Amino acid sequence: MDIELRGITKRFGPVTANEDVNLSIRSGEVLGLLGENGAGKSTLMNVLCGLYSPTDGEILIDGVPATFDGPGDAIRAGIGMVHQHFMLVPVFTVTENVVLGVERTGRFDHLDLATARAQVHAINDQYGLHVDPDALVENLPVGVQQRVEIIKVLFRSADVLILDEPTAVLTPQEVDDFFQIIKALRDAGKALVFITHKLNEILEIADRISVIRNGRIVGEGLPKDLTRPQLAEMMVGRPVSFDVVKKPFAPGGTLLETRDLTVLRDTDEIAIDHLNLTVRSGEIVGIAGVQGNGQSALIEVLTGLRRATEGQVMFDGQDITRTSVRERHRLGIAHIPEDRQTVGLIKNFTVAENMVLDTYYDARFSRGPRVDWAQVNKVSAGFVRDFDIRTPSVFQAAGHLSGGNQQKLVVARELSRETKLLIAGQPTRGLDVGSIEYIHKRLIAARDEGDGVLIVSSELDEIMALSDRILVMFKGRIVAEYDANAGPVDKSAIGLAMAGAAA
Ligand SMILES: Nc1ncnc2c1ncn2[C@@H]1O[C@H](COP(=O)(O)OP(=O)(O)OP(=O)(O)O)[C@@H](O)[C@H]1O
Ligand SMILES: [Mg+2]
Repeated sequence: MDIELRGITKRFGPVTANEDVNLSIRSGEVLGLLGENGAGKSTLMNVLCGLYSPTDGEILIDGVPATFDGPGDAIRAGIGMVHQHFMLVPVFTVTENVVLGVERTGRFDHLDLATARAQVHAINDQYGLHVDPDALVENLPVGVQQRVEIIKVLFRSADVLILDEPTAVLTPQEVDDFFQIIKALRDAGKALVFITHKLNEILEIADRISVIRNGRIVGEGLPKDLTRPQLAEMMVGRPVSFDVVKKPFAPGGTLLETRDLTVLRDTDEIAIDHLNLTVRSGEIVGIAGVQGNGQSALIEVLTGLRRATEGQVMFDGQDITRTSVRERHRLGIAHIPEDRQTVGLIKNFTVAENMVLDTYYDARFSRGPRVDWAQVNKVSAGFVRDFDIRTPSVFQAAGHLSGGNQQKLVVARELSRETKLLIAGQPTRGLDVGSIEYIHKRLIAARDEGDGVLIVSSELDEIMALSDRILVMFKGRIVAEYDANAGPVDKSAIGLAMAGAAA
């Protein structure tokens, strides 16, 4: 099945998200779609999957014009999308999630879960997905939830699969498995659109590449003819530096210290096991590890979102083990959460409101008992400019920003106040190369000005580029430590430690 987008334009009020886009998508091929945050990738694909109707232009399926009144029409035409932010129901099983919505389209007279379950098994086998049809979605790691989304689309007999930043939430190992699945789908004759910000991924898996900037297609080519720097420049319109420049290492005293810290998961299993670590001022400590080894619990316990069962957290000479989130915040701890949508921001609040979510009560933003909105708006406009957040104004609802611009909003808020310690979980998840370059500069500037910085990231390259000290976490413990200022650190050694070799 071949799809042709012709002259697609999509406007939201004054915002033009797509302008006169022409694109072809062919069966048996992976089309890589690249573009900076807010370029219009998700919008264009939402038009293709019937979620938005285009302001102008048309979609041809095997040469015949199609009009979609909703995603139901698109899926009946064979086009399905896995969205940037998942749309699963956590308390349902895999099979229940898969049939959700289908039971009403007429293909099933009644909800026949047994048949559906068998079909999930068949899809599993055909494409090597390995998902338990009876598992509750909330108990599945994100990598597996993603495969549930793929099964959902395949269950609806899609021939065209649109995957919007599927690898942003995956670990490197999961990405390898995921690419096997993509290849199996392509070899089975499916047409795939793959959106990512990771240039090496697109060079590895795409058959063709299209680059979109400010809503327009600005370049097209084959992976064999393109390099990372070329793609980066096509995306952002200027050369991007992949190097990180830091001042010489001059750490101060210990800012953060955990002493025999033990933390349980919700299920009462041990997430963190008698963990000892320190972060000094003027130092970036990076935590490397395969997701699920206690990193999320560590961030939660340090920021006050989860209780320690044993041990202590010391900050700036003070025991903060039982201190509230707000008090830790007041003491100078900033937090960039791993999941921007549940912890980071409130989607139906405006950009300006989100900018002061945890500071509106500061003297800066209040006049007596009232919030000084004129001041809030002015300061927010400054953040929007500094961090290059693409939004028509500070009055836009945060949920209407593109995924990467939502992330920039959270990072801007946390980096723009007086802090002593910054705790960052996946700080550049979903950001384009230009934005990553900028956020890295800001994290280093915080360190150079004497802040302590603790970064948890599943991007080993990011950890290696930024950290003064690298700690490897495995099964709730620190199993290896590397001093990056003492000489080059061996990436494969870290990889082995991450897999538990040093434990
Ligand atoms: N529902 C909406 N209402 C108003 N504006 C919107 C809406 N959806 C998207 N936009 C705007 O359209 C533009 C393109 O956004 P889109 O989400 O398509 O970007 P993207 O390329 O997917 O970016 P990212 O890499 O950050 O996910 C942005 O300026 C965004 O703010
Ligand atoms: Mg997007």
